[in-house]
Amino acid sequence: MKYVRDIPFKEFVDSHHRAFDDDLAKLRRSNEDEDVPLIFTETEEILGLLIGLTHPVRILEIGTAYGYSALFFAKKLPEAHITTIERNPVMVEAARAAFSSRKEGERIDLLIGDAAEILDQFVCDLADADESEKFDFVFIDAAKSHYKEFFEAAEKICIKDALIVCDNILLKGWIVEAEGKEAKRHRTSIKYMKKFLEYLRERDDLEVSILTGADGLAIIRFINEQ
Ligand SMILES: C[S@@+](CC[C@H](N)C(=O)[O-])C[C@H]1O[C@@H](n2cnc3c(N)ncnc32)[C@H](O)[C@@H]1O
Repeated sequence: MKYVRDIPFKEFVDSHHRAFDDDLAKLRRSNEDEDVPLIFTETEEILGLLIGLTHPVRILEIGTAYGYSALFFAKKLPEAHITTIERNPVMVEAARAAFSSRKEGERIDLLIGDAAEILDQFVCDLADADESEKFDFVFIDAAKSHYKEFFEAAEKICIKDALIVCDNILLKGWIVEAEGKEAKRHRTSIKYMKKFLEYLRERDDLEVSILTGADGLAIIRFINEQ
């Protein structure tokens, strides 16, 4: 397969990317220089389009890293509150510094720990909550073997019109063709991502769009009874 190992057209798409502001442009460059994981420019643009159309006010992000995407959400949506979860202490430290040095950081809650545990707590805390306390947009961008778990928790703490977006669902194309040493190292993630995508396909109460841009995105909404 032609593009199975690399992100197709990445350089071309990057060359057309317009950063939200100079601050995010600098942050993207420094994250890339330090090899910190962050959303691709194409992913940022799709997320920007989705949140620009749906205007979420309570965003949940699973996987903060250095805080780039959380800051993108906060800058793009001045009315929104962002809750983001990270377990790696090095990432936590950097994200904390990124949030505390920017005014948008005041609208970002960084929760530290394993996302599965934090989500379980949210599910308990929000069990009887009304819709105004639940999330209206969820971005899943953490451990690739746990997307099903994250998704099942997320859907319990979302409003019924929420969008849930999952990043990296193609895993560099290995989801279709897994050959070579690198794919072997990621075989657990590949196995569980495939199971997650099959699970989504079997859920007839969901509308699922699989986009093949960047590293693949799944955009999911609930089919609500009229
Ligand atoms: C791809 S990075 C997130 C990038 C970030 N969304 C951005 O675009 O700026 C994934 C992050 O998820 C974190 N992570 C992975 N599994 C996790 C888990 N179970 N609980 C909390 N954080 C997790 C990793 O430490 C890593 O920093």
